[in-house]
Amino acid sequence: MEREQSPEREPARPRRVTPPQWRRMKREGQRIAMVTAYDAPSARLADAAGVDGLLVGDSAAMTVLGYDSTVQVTVDEMLMLTRAVTRSVRRPLVVADMPFGSFQISDKEAVKQAVRFIKDGGAGAVKLEGAGRTLTRVAAIVGAGIPVMGHVGLTPQSAVALGGYRAQARTASDAHRLQDEALALEGAGCFALVLEAIPAIVAERITETLKIPTIGIGAGPRCDGQVLVWHDVLGLTAGHVPQFVKRYADLAASTTSALETYVSDVRTGRFPEVQHTYPMADGEQELFELDKLARR
Ligand code: KIV
Repeated sequence: MEREQSPEREPARPRRVTPPQWRRMKREGQRIAMVTAYDAPSARLADAAGVDGLLVGDSAAMTVLGYDSTVQVTVDEMLMLTRAVTRSVRRPLVVADMPFGSFQISDKEAVKQAVRFIKDGGAGAVKLEGAGRTLTRVAAIVGAGIPVMGHVGLTPQSAVALGGYRAQARTASDAHRLQDEALALEGAGCFALVLEAIPAIVAERITETLKIPTIGIGAGPRCDGQVLVWHDVLGLTAGHVPQFVKRYADLAASTTSALETYVSDVRTGRFPEVQHTYPMADGEQELFELDKLARR
């Protein structure tokens, strides 16, 4: 006999956001909100805040792994962070950044590493920096059935070649080249494109031209969505913060102040208090103390 469904069941799980949904959002003029995340608690908090996408960015190299640039981080390290994020979220699309060295060698190697991010990492898509030689990699990965997000403008993995971390496409000819790259990445099958550190007017024109959504970071207000680095948004970045960042909290200051109070409480004996301790089971303390006397 079939059981009747109870009307008071657990609330339905929110549907996982997908790449086609991002495209729909663009068509309907809904802005896409994305932030980076590298661990379970941040992923959970961002999910609860309603983000549409989480980027396990290779910025993790600097923000959480202590490297001085993104090029040192490995696929294995990125996979560990990606798993922590995908295990912890229900709704946002999780995009895993393919680190430097994971897709440059050949199309075959790029597909192999991308598959790891989907199969082992649980990501919904991968992101690759650059155009040019990256185009065949994008096409190969998309051909293997994996959604790819492109990334042009300032591409930190090639910051040395670009002459440092500086805004791109500031001349008309560079801006035209960038427009061509964006179109080529759309043609290669990208489902979305990050535009980083470029003039707002250039991002606006690219956004109007492409059918796929553009996600800006330092690319002005006319992109289809925005992404920021977790530590920048929350005021946790040590050192230089790019001009395009809006800081929404000062967690470094509140964290330091909380930890200073903790250190002081430990040193002065104000922590732990009774409510932070475990009592013995009823009647056991007397027995324990008696036993202790008997053992002397
Ligand atoms: O790694 C990262 O965080 C990124 C964003 C800056 C787009 O690629």
